[in-house]
Amino acid sequence: MEGPRGCRPDEVAAVVDLVNSVFSREDRTMGRDFPTLFSPSNSAWLRTMWEDGRPISHVGVWQGQIVSSAGPLRVAHLGAVCTANEYRNRGLATLILNDALEQLRAEETSLVFISGGRGLYLRLGARPAGRILRYTFVPPPAVSEVQLELVDALQDRDLDAMRWLHGGEPVRYVRNPSEWRALLPAKGYAPARQNRAVVLLRRHGQVVAYLLLGKPQILADGVREVVDEFAGDRRAIVQGFSSLVSMRLARAVELTVQPGDASLTELLAERGGAATVIRHIGTTLLLDRDLLFRAVARSRPDLAAWNASQPTGADPEQLGQLVLGVLGNAEADPPRPVPIEVPRQGGMQYI
Ligand SMILES: CC(C)(COP(=O)(O)OP(=O)(O)OC[C@H]1O[C@@H](n2cnc3c(N)ncnc32)[C@H](O)[C@@H]1OP(=O)(O)O)[C@@H](O)C(=O)NCCC(=O)NCCS
Repeated sequence: MEGPRGCRPDEVAAVVDLVNSVFSREDRTMGRDFPTLFSPSNSAWLRTMWEDGRPISHVGVWQGQIVSSAGPLRVAHLGAVCTANEYRNRGLATLILNDALEQLRAEETSLVFISGGRGLYLRLGARPAGRILRYTFVPPPAVSEVQLELVDALQDRDLDAMRWLHGGEPVRYVRNPSEWRALLPAKGYAPARQNRAVVLLRRHGQVVAYLLLGKPQILADGVREVVDEFAGDRRAIVQGFSSLVSMRLARAVELTVQPGDASLTELLAERGGAATVIRHIGTTLLLDRDLLFRAVARSRPDLAAWNASQPTGADPEQLGQLVLGVLGNAEADPPRPVPIEVPRQGGMQYI
């Protein structure tokens, strides 16, 4: 048996085969759905065990940068974790995970987002963490000054406009142009699959906001549009919802909002929107406490002081939850310390 190790670019196809055999037996779409993970340029981060020339266990790692509410942070996602049936329960996934975390620590990654919450991850210290607001909103009929355009074939200038708007978001993933080009088709936004869509919102001809719509939900009381991502002018976005539902014959819109997005939460509240506090999907591991607090010390001296007041041996799991915020422990409103906000992990960035 060989590993844990990363792959060579020419081994990616064999790993995608293993991953498909576990997660997508019928459609075999994992390679298409996760192009930034299963790309030759990311092959060293496809951490694997091999036997007789074939991969038998895999942990997919995507490393990147986010802009959190406390500034830039290096983060990673772990996903597509699997072991071939006949090799399970021998500690292979645990071995690869531990090795992957060591590599990530060496690369100064402070937070790891994991697409699951099973024992395997909890034993490593990953916990549900991070709060976000979910709105299910029935937009009132309104005359809107913004024009909506559903785009199936994105022009370069439209993509540029979207990138500029996304770049202006206070809490976001740092996404380079090649990731945009790979992810929009892969995740089925453009060209659209299963009624997903890219929507541009224009005011006086200028693109002032965009929405990425996920697969609509068909419910007993009507269709609900699910906004997977948005960026740009908050007033245009909220006004656009009224046109969106009439254009797509929907009833309601669902979107998740960062708790710190005061202008959007106010605009939604003015129109009768009510939020439920939910937690981020999966679990989060605070991989390097010192690194995280050093990284946020300039923008959040309160957090640095709070960290210093915690015992050196303080439970890193609990700290991770407190720093990102979690449901159920928010006795004060807003919770103390005010959590660091990280971007929503679904939609385009989901691994
Ligand atoms: C989940 C999955 C990746 C685990 O892979 P694995 O290689 O069997 O993982 P491990 O052997 O490290 O751990 C599995 C179990 O074996 C036990 N184990 C670990 N080392 C062991 C050892 N040396 N001897 C015996 N048992 C051992 C662990 O306690 C663990 O049990 P638990 O997680 O239920 O507490 C695998 O079952 C799988 O591919 N499942 C389908 C895909 C999936 O669900 N992926 C996760 C998405 S979130």
